[in-house]
Amino acid sequence: MKLKTKIAGLLPLLTAVLLSCSAQGQPDSYSKNPKINRKVDSLLQLMTLKEKIGQMNQYNGFWDVTGPGPKDGNAKVKYDHLREGLVGSMLNVKGVEQVKAVQKIAVEETRLGIPLIIGFDVIHGYKTLNPIPLAEAASWDLDAIKKSSSVAAAEAAAAGINWTFAPMVDISRDARWGRVMEGAGEDPFLGSKIAKARVEGFQGNDLSAPNTIAACAKHFAAYGFSEAGKEYNTVDIGSSTLYNTVLPPFKAASDSGVKTMMNSFNELNGVPATGNAYLLRDILKGKWGFKGFVVSDWASIKEMVTWGYAQHKKDASRLAALAGCDLDMESNAYVFELETLVKEGAVKEAIIDEAVRRILTVKHELGLFEDPYRYCDAKREKTVINSKAHHAAALDMAKKSIVLLKNENQLLPLKKKGQTIALIGGLAADTNSPLGSWRLASKDSTAVSVLQGMESYKGNKLIYAKGADVNKSETEFTIHIKLNTDDKSGFSEAVAAAKKADVVVMVLGEHGFQSGEGRSRTELGLPGVQQELLEAVYAVNKKIVLVLNNGRPLTINWANNHVPTIVEAWQLGSQTGHAVAQVLYGDYNPSGKLPMTFPRNVGQIPIYYNYKNTGRPVSEQSNNPDFVFWSHYSDVENSPLFPFGHGLSYTTFKYKNIKRSKATYRLNETVSVTCDISNTGKLKGKEVVQLYIRDLHASVTRPIRELKGFKQIELAPGETQKVSFTLTKDELGFYNNTGNFVVEPGKFEVFIGGSSYTSLKTTFDLK
Ligand code: NOJ
Repeated sequence: MKLKTKIAGLLPLLTAVLLSCSAQGQPDSYSKNPKINRKVDSLLQLMTLKEKIGQMNQYNGFWDVTGPGPKDGNAKVKYDHLREGLVGSMLNVKGVEQVKAVQKIAVEETRLGIPLIIGFDVIHGYKTLNPIPLAEAASWDLDAIKKSSSVAAAEAAAAGINWTFAPMVDISRDARWGRVMEGAGEDPFLGSKIAKARVEGFQGNDLSAPNTIAACAKHFAAYGFSEAGKEYNTVDIGSSTLYNTVLPPFKAASDSGVKTMMNSFNELNGVPATGNAYLLRDILKGKWGFKGFVVSDWASIKEMVTWGYAQHKKDASRLAALAGCDLDMESNAYVFELETLVKEGAVKEAIIDEAVRRILTVKHELGLFEDPYRYCDAKREKTVINSKAHHAAALDMAKKSIVLLKNENQLLPLKKKGQTIALIGGLAADTNSPLGSWRLASKDSTAVSVLQGMESYKGNKLIYAKGADVNKSETEFTIHIKLNTDDKSGFSEAVAAAKKADVVVMVLGEHGFQSGEGRSRTELGLPGVQQELLEAVYAVNKKIVLVLNNGRPLTINWANNHVPTIVEAWQLGSQTGHAVAQVLYGDYNPSGKLPMTFPRNVGQIPIYYNYKNTGRPVSEQSNNPDFVFWSHYSDVENSPLFPFGHGLSYTTFKYKNIKRSKATYRLNETVSVTCDISNTGKLKGKEVVQLYIRDLHASVTRPIRELKGFKQIELAPGETQKVSFTLTKDELGFYNNTGNFVVEPGKFEVFIGGSSYTSLKTTFDLK
């Protein structure tokens, strides 16, 4: 192989370099693998400054874009740069053919033949689509989530890709922000567990295996706290929120060995994240000892100029490099500016070396130096992608992601025979929307629709009537309020179908493209004329099962007040229709729990379960209309519509006998808590048993509840199981305002139950 030959010829020089290098000691950018460190250092010594900077440059491919498009003429510059060894990575290049084409240039036409690392947004699958990440989080099933990421990795790796820009681990309490669909919801504890599961799923045990890829925890940091849920907006949060809520999932990803992190677009307290040395150098690469590399977000280096933080692109390049951003995604900044900055002494070459070392290390770990085409096997591409096994895994994940929000009079599960069922709604027969946002590689309109899923049950009469579309148009980049439809011409057909039916199933919600990047909303009701359709149908038949399709919590008060049964089905990916039908017909007993609070109205946002008590919390007085001086809104019930952790089953569970092993523990002792859970219904069912704590007094005020454990159990009717939890200092401590983790003595409450609103509790002291 040409690459090997090139490097082999330089071996004597390399050995000399190695010896001098090890004498200098190891900077913290070195990996744990001395063999790779030696190889990387050897190569670094051969590289010109220009070539090193080239490794820090990432270009979009020539086929797709996921940000403001490259300017005319850019493609020619990019090709030239590729040939000159001035490109270290490409994104949005997909499929063996495309990847091979660019890799061949890097390996065969550049002086050192260093392979490219190929990045892609494999967010919830490559071609086989799993549920959107927020939906998966509702499963609370870490094994299933890990499996889902490993399926996504296997397909992407078979298509030439070796690096995904996932998982997004941003915690968010604001459903207006469209990107909540990409994350794991509002809670740092659940978010951290899911971050770990996803990193492990993508990266597997061996990064160089042909079915694993490097992961990227994003967006570092605090993007989920964009003011007013508005995309790309300012973030201004205090240190307690930063350390205790925002950072834990990133730390979990780093501790799980995630190979890369991505900057966020936002500024944090006045400093754009891409130029934020405190985040990148002090915390990530310093305190946490992160060994991978940091990629900017799309053009986020040059956007520091627009933010008013850098004077011009050169200044932005200096600030980003000094802060610790290693790879420039599509700012076209480093490649043009860094050389001069180094020559002028504004950026030390050691900073460049550190960044390049990190990037080359990951390339080595991926096995790209041994075989740059290791992810480019056309045969594997054909057999692995869209395999039966992958669709089976997607179906399994989809069923587990569904949350039964409400089921009055046990309208569900549906009877399998002798019924007339009206299936209504613009999303009911849709095969595109259920794929959700972020499905750049998959084919449009390839989901199993709810209609198709229901049709596979033959015992009932099914009447389908669309009623109304959600949007006039549904292309990925054109979703806009102006496109909501106002066409009600299908209402009469829908009403007529409902009149004839024993049960009406209505599939309503957001189109799959209404959430995701750049899709912030100020109203979270059912878009378009769907609310009117629901009310028109309800007027003739009240036996409605509302199946929601959405990428974020919605304000569905009217539905909650009127409709007997509500099923949260998110956007469940390729197998949506089968998953929904199997749940509606009771072949899968729903087990999901909400990873994000549902507000009653937008004014309640941010609304989340782990809020602080305030000096004037809810009290007995709170129901007294003459008493106003407490922390509340006076025009709405102050509880959420559905709390975090909520989710029902077709059976019922009873929690009792919560017990801790002692009344008082020492600071370093492990606290044990048990609880008996019984299945009091008639069907076998799964339950996510949740444990919350409250630290009653601390040097920094603590939330009224904090999730600190959960276990999924399955119980037969009448069966009881004792579930045990342990709490160590990791769960009992918190970050103080200087970012140090502390465990303080005092009184704690422990709650166990089936949602964050459980009241079953015990207490203990920590001394
Ligand atoms: C911008 C998004 O913020 C980021 O998450 C994504 O990975 C990049 N574009 C690349 O598509």
